[in-house]
Amino acid sequence: MIKFIDLLTEKLADAFEACGFERRFGKVTISNRPDLCEFQCNGAMAAAKQYKTAPINIANQVVEKLQASDTFAEIQAVMPGFINLKISEKVLVDYATEMAADERMGYEQATERQSIVVDYGGANVAKPLHVGHLRSAIIGESIKRICKFAGHEVIGDVHLGDWGLQMGLIITELKHRQPELIYFDDSFEGEYPTEAPFTISELEEIYPCANAKSKMDEVYKEEAREATAQLQYGKRGYMALWNHIMNVSVADLKKNYDNMDVHFEMWGKESDAQAYIPDMIEELKAGGYTEISDGALVIDVKEEGDTKEIPPCMLLKSDGATLYDTTDLATLVERKQKFNPAHVIYVVDKRQELHFVQVFRAARKTGIMTDNTKLTFQGFGTMNGKDGKPYKTRDGGVMRLENLISSINDAVYEKMMENRTIEDKEAKETAKIVGLAALKYGDLSNQAAKDYIFDVERFTSFEGNTGPYILYTIVRIKSILGKYKEQAGKNSADCMFAGTMNATEKALFMELVKFNEVMENAYDELAPHKICAYIFDISNAFNRFYHETKILAEENIAKKESYIALLILTKRVLESCINLLGFSSPDRM
Ligand code: ARG
Repeated sequence: MIKFIDLLTEKLADAFEACGFERRFGKVTISNRPDLCEFQCNGAMAAAKQYKTAPINIANQVVEKLQASDTFAEIQAVMPGFINLKISEKVLVDYATEMAADERMGYEQATERQSIVVDYGGANVAKPLHVGHLRSAIIGESIKRICKFAGHEVIGDVHLGDWGLQMGLIITELKHRQPELIYFDDSFEGEYPTEAPFTISELEEIYPCANAKSKMDEVYKEEAREATAQLQYGKRGYMALWNHIMNVSVADLKKNYDNMDVHFEMWGKESDAQAYIPDMIEELKAGGYTEISDGALVIDVKEEGDTKEIPPCMLLKSDGATLYDTTDLATLVERKQKFNPAHVIYVVDKRQELHFVQVFRAARKTGIMTDNTKLTFQGFGTMNGKDGKPYKTRDGGVMRLENLISSINDAVYEKMMENRTIEDKEAKETAKIVGLAALKYGDLSNQAAKDYIFDVERFTSFEGNTGPYILYTIVRIKSILGKYKEQAGKNSADCMFAGTMNATEKALFMELVKFNEVMENAYDELAPHKICAYIFDISNAFNRFYHETKILAEENIAKKESYIALLILTKRVLESCINLLGFSSPDRM
C-alpha cells in the first residue's frame, strides 16, 4: 500500500503538473508548525526559481487546483509561498479502512526475498550469561524479527564462543581437582561416559576460579594454553570433556534465552568454523593474499585514506593456533556455502568494531565475500549503572542475567500489588510478561550505538516512555473491547469507521496511518528504536483520545462502532510492533 505521506505527495504532484510545473515540486512533509496545519508543501519555493516567478503565484495556482479535492479539508497558500494542508477525515477513513482490511496493515513484503544472517547472542559457553550479552540478545532478536517481517528469509545464529582459552582453563581446573577422571588417562581407548562429571552450577564456579588462578599463576596459565591447543588438535579425552561442557552449558543457555523470548534458528559456534579453516588458509596463501609478520600469518587490510592504523587480519599465530579473526573469516566461508546470504548483520558490542573492520576488509579483498553480500556491523553501546559505569552487582561483580531479570520482575510485581487488581498467582505470571517488556523496551528505546543507563525504577514505571506504559495502553484497549463484546453481544470485527471525528480521534488516526512508513524505516536502518518512538506516540495519542471520549457510553451506534474499529486497529498496530520488539502483552495488569 502506498505510504500515507506519499499519497498526499501524489495529490500535490498532480496539482503541480496540472498547473504546468514539474511533479517533483509536490513533495509533502509533516508540518513543523502543527498549530497552523498538519502537513505542508514547500515546493513552490524551489519551483519559483526554475519558472522565474514569485513562489506565491505558484502556490496560489496549485491551491486553486486542489480546492475541489476531497483529500484536504483545508488548503492554503501563505507568504512567501508555503502551502499549508489539513487533511480531510475521508482520506484518513479510506486509508485506515484499507489498512484494516490487509493482514499486514499496508506494509508490503519485499519484492525480492533475500537470505539474511543475523549474528547475535554470542554467549560464551561455560560462562554464565551476563548483562554484556543481554543487549546483543535483545537488539539482535528485534532486528531479526524486523527483517523477517520485511519478508526475508532470516537465520538468527547465536554463534557461541566455545573455542577459546576458556575451554582450556576449565579442562585444566578439572584436571587439578579430579586428576583421576578417565578423560585425563591418555592410555584409555574405550567409550567415555555419557554423563558429564559436573553440573551447570559446578561449571559456573569452575570457570571464574580457573580464570582467577591463571591471572596469578603463569605456570597454570601455560597449562591452560597447552590444554586449549590440544583440544584444538582434537585430543580425544579433551574433546569428550568439551562435549560435556557444551551439552550442559547449551541446555542452560537455551533455558535462559527462552525466558527472554529469544530464539535462534541456528546454534552455530566458533568451533564450527574449524572445518573450513585449513582449506581457507590454503586458498588465501595460493591467492597471494597472505604474508608473514613476526612469524604470524596475516592479511594486510590497510586501505588508502585510512585515518588511523588498521592492523592486519591475523590468521595463524606463530605457533599455528587460530584466532578470533580466523574463526570469523572462516564463518563467512561457511555462511556463504550454506546460505549465500545477501546480508550478514553482526549485533555485537561496539568495542569490537575494529575486529569487524579487519574481518570485513579481509573478506572483500580475498573475494570470500563479493559485493553481492552486504556486511553490517551493528555495534551497540554499554549498559551502565546509575553511576555511569558498566553495570555491576552491589559487590562489584558481573551481574548474572537471571538475577537482573528477577530484579525487574520483582519491581513490576510490587507495583502491581500496590493496585491489587489481580490475584497473587496471576500477578506473578503477569509480572514476568511486563518485566520482560520493561527490560527490552528500556534497552530498545535507545539508539543501539549509544550507552544507556539501566534504571529499574524508571524502566518499570507505568508512566512515561516505558514498556509497561505501552502494555498498559494495550491492556486498556483489550478491556474496553471485552466490555463492548459483552454489552453489544456482537462481533466487534464488523465495526466500520464512520465519517466524522473529534480532534483527539483524528490525531490517533494520523499516527496509525504511518505504520508502513515506520516499518520500512526501521528495516532500512535496522533500528528498533524507531518502532519504540512510534508506539510511544500512538499510546499517547490513544490515551488522549480515551480521556476525552465516552466510548462505551456513546449513544450514536455508528459513532460507537467507529470508535471500536479504531480501537481494534490501534491494538493490532501496537501488538505487531511489540512483537517486533520481542515482547507480548498480558490480558490484565
Ligand atoms: N562471543 C563473543 C563475545 O562474547 C561475541 C561473538 C560475536 N560474534 C562474532 N561473530 N564474533 O565477545
